[in-house]
Amino acid sequence: MKLLDGKKTSTEIKEEIKLKVTAIKTAGERVPHLAAVLVGDDGASLTYVGSKVRSCKYVGFESTLIRLEEDITEEALLLKIDELNQNENIDGYIVQLPLPKHINEERVLLAIDPKKDVDGFHPANFGRMALDLDAFIPATPFGIIQLLERYEVPTSGKHCLVVGRSHIVGRPISILMSQKGPAGDATVTLAHSRTQNLKSLTKQADIVVMALGIPEFLTADMVKEGVTVIDVGITRVADESHPKGYVIKGDVAFDEVAAKANYITPVPGGVGPMTIAMLLQNTLLAKQWNQS
Ligand code: GUN
Repeated sequence: MKLLDGKKTSTEIKEEIKLKVTAIKTAGERVPHLAAVLVGDDGASLTYVGSKVRSCKYVGFESTLIRLEEDITEEALLLKIDELNQNENIDGYIVQLPLPKHINEERVLLAIDPKKDVDGFHPANFGRMALDLDAFIPATPFGIIQLLERYEVPTSGKHCLVVGRSHIVGRPISILMSQKGPAGDATVTLAHSRTQNLKSLTKQADIVVMALGIPEFLTADMVKEGVTVIDVGITRVADESHPKGYVIKGDVAFDEVAAKANYITPVPGGVGPMTIAMLLQNTLLAKQWNQS
């Protein structure tokens, strides 16, 4: 069994980005600048955004955190988005999701200039990605592709089962792994809440991507010997014995599945850290694409 170490790989990617930032500075240019919009003070979102801002500092990017009140109107948020679209000093930005219920998420995502949409959530980017054109690829699926590629996990001709059809993970990774090229050329099945007899599918898959959000759902009896398992789950499960009062659980019963797997991602330390590295990579691409 080989561990697909997202912590180590994301550090390598960040070091590569850091070198590119040094070269940008040496050339006398402005460094890439990422902005993040956070509405309200949801604990998990604050943690994620804080970590994104810290990673920017680490690689030498400029970063701006824009914190807005929970009760901000949709119109006021859209004005902020427009300002970010116009601001020539900002190469890319993200609006952290989920947004408060009174705000129409779709309307907000559509307002983001696709050229600055480093999350890759705008339909223009999603469509370009699906058509094999240059696009910002959403950070989580982009991170999974990088892990598969850098560990040289065989995907060509393999049967890949993706469990979960979210717009952020399941849907895009199912498209990417079926495309031509590195970490691609797989035969992909996309399973979801209405799928019948899921176990018969997981049992015959060469690669299983779990993006369901149900802790320890995938057990050893559901996979075949030699499987590759990518665990995208990050659920906070209450645990009073832990100082934080919770532990993070993936969608995979790690120990028992690892015993049968060729390759597997841990949680934490698998896909999670890759996500931030790929957001930085997209921000670097934004600067390169937008100035050429
Ligand atoms: N909420 C959970 N994941 C993400 C992400 O990748 N980007 C944004 N903007 N919000 C999220």
